[in-house]
Amino acid sequence: MRIARTIPEARAAVASLRANARCLGLVPTMGALHAGHISLVRAARAACDAVVATIFINPTQFASGEDFAQYPRTFEADCALFESEGVDLLFAPEAAEMYPEGFCTVVEIEGVSDRLDGQSRPGHFRGVATVVARLFNIVAPDKAFFGQKDAAQVAILRRMVRDLNFPLELIVCPIVRDPDGLALSSRNRYLSPEDRGHALALARALCRIEERIVAGIFDSASLLEAGRAILAEEPAIRLDYLRIVDPDTLEDLPNARHGALVAVAAWVGSARLIDNLLIP
Ligand code: PAF
Repeated sequence: MRIARTIPEARAAVASLRANARCLGLVPTMGALHAGHISLVRAARAACDAVVATIFINPTQFASGEDFAQYPRTFEADCALFESEGVDLLFAPEAAEMYPEGFCTVVEIEGVSDRLDGQSRPGHFRGVATVVARLFNIVAPDKAFFGQKDAAQVAILRRMVRDLNFPLELIVCPIVRDPDGLALSSRNRYLSPEDRGHALALARALCRIEERIVAGIFDSASLLEAGRAILAEEPAIRLDYLRIVDPDTLEDLPNARHGALVAVAAWVGSARLIDNLLIP
């Protein structure tokens, strides 16, 4: 596995991969890898001839007071994992490489960026869209792989790919969960053993909503009430949002129709966790 630290190095390495690869896959990450990231790499390996992964803890997607400084940095272990999964090239730039002095161009997906996490974390999706657009321009992949766990990020990036005519396919891979149901996240490392137990209520709330839908209840207000009741059983949980929305626009839906997104975000101890369910 080659490691590129600068944009010219990454471009040169991509060009030499391109000589033998008809389909190039990109897996953008912020490192602190877990099985969810590995599922993206495996999907990329299965669908593409060469795989480029990135590790960049993007400062512009963290608001002041968020966990940028504490975000887990496990570069050596991440490299070993990517290498063992057959990643061909890792692009891992420093912040100064991605944001040199004078950098002032941003990508703003209007409207959608202000919903769900975008509402609670102003500026977050501007940071995500800007860095991902640049990774797309640097690597020029045919397919780019993202996790369904960050459903709002998926909506933002889908819109961006369409609106800015990026010539690539966005592939969204299913949420990977621990056996007890907790959705994998790099931020699960912040959870104490007790908090980890409390955090299971997020998946339980989504399951309760799914059960109700299977039982034929589609009214969003009563579904959300049932989900909130589960979360309220855990006083350690501070709910940020629980909503039933259109998965593309992230606007609230009065009814949980086919394809609707049920999304939850909550604080458990010092960890802000997200999870979601797409209504089949
Ligand atoms: O999902 C993530 O880890 C990040 O938001 C991403 C897509 C790598 C952009 O920094």
